[in-house]
Amino acid sequence: MPSTADYLLIGAVAAIVTFGATPVVGWIAFRLGWLYQPTERTVHTTPMPAIGGLTPMAGEKMEEGAMRLEGRTAIVTGGAKGIGAHYSRALADAGAEVMIADIADGSALAAEIAARTGRNSIDHMTFDVSDEAQCKALVARTLERFGKIDILINNAALYAPLPTLSVTDMDVELWDQVMAVNVRGPFLMVKHAAPAMIARGYGKIVNIGSGTVARGIPDFSHYVTSKGAVTAFTRCMSRELGAHGIRVNTLAPGYTLSDTGLTNAVHVEQSRAAAIARRALKRDEYPEDLLGTLVYLCSPDSDFMTGQVLTVDGGANNT
Ligand SMILES: NC(=O)c1ccc[n+]([C@@H]2O[C@H](COP(=O)([O-])OP(=O)(O)OC[C@H]3O[C@@H](n4cnc5c(N)ncnc54)[C@H](O)[C@@H]3O)[C@@H](O)[C@H]2O)c1
Repeated sequence: MPSTADYLLIGAVAAIVTFGATPVVGWIAFRLGWLYQPTERTVHTTPMPAIGGLTPMAGEKMEEGAMRLEGRTAIVTGGAKGIGAHYSRALADAGAEVMIADIADGSALAAEIAARTGRNSIDHMTFDVSDEAQCKALVARTLERFGKIDILINNAALYAPLPTLSVTDMDVELWDQVMAVNVRGPFLMVKHAAPAMIARGYGKIVNIGSGTVARGIPDFSHYVTSKGAVTAFTRCMSRELGAHGIRVNTLAPGYTLSDTGLTNAVHVEQSRAAAIARRALKRDEYPEDLLGTLVYLCSPDSDFMTGQVLTVDGGANNT
């Protein structure tokens, strides 16, 4: 009585005679490969190589829904209002200790987050990001309160209150003020926060850029130019600080309906409908649309990514 194996052999010989050897051998190899596929996803557990003297924290938190930033300390500049307030909440909800730093008062937001999370891991400080002494004081206060700095979100900027002006009408003082807050600010924060990251061989810096850099917009050159500088600064810092295990990326939002942005009627009128028309995903953008990408850029999941621009704008730009 022929066995199953005999029938398979006879079938294979008949198929080779009829169709030639190549497709039959290929089919057998495919079936064997399929049969021996592991039924569970293989998890890579080999320790990551050390970068900058310490083993990075990559891969240590992979579970779905985990507090992905537990044990991390973050500074969010401009973290009291607008989109920054959403960043502060999101990082705290992901488990991070958060220093809310803003020229505006962040005490109410800090109290709200502390009450919701039930953790004594939120602080706030009023400061001007364009002032070096105040940036140094912010870093010192964060180190005193939390002992380290793992994450820096350079979000503070002059955006919502800015007027639209042609370059010929642009006041030099306004131009300089925008550069002082939007460009010198992130530089000062990195200059003074990086030493604490370098000492520990690990850090995540997220500079908030803008989708406007990819296309340029008229009558907004002060702002768009400043955000172009932020993108260039990200690339320089990624190369300069990579050896110390510090990852530096840009998160570039599209036109986002922040509560502060909505107070500028000219921006709303000029940008809202036009932004939707440019997008592949035809709707308004909200601060909540940015939070997953922000947490990702702060988490170990993005530890092999640096010097990049992640544009979150519903597909308005293909960067
Ligand atoms: N809303 C948008 O459409 C949009 C789009 C792309 C990028 N962005 C960027 O996202 C970030 C947040 O934007 P937003 O919509 O919340 O606007 P926003 O202008 O309200 O946000 C700026 C934040 O920085 C703070 N700030 C301003 N000057 C400061 C200073 N000198 N020192 C410290 N803090 C200061 C403000 O108090 C505010 O909390 C900004 O970097 C902005 O450029 C916004």
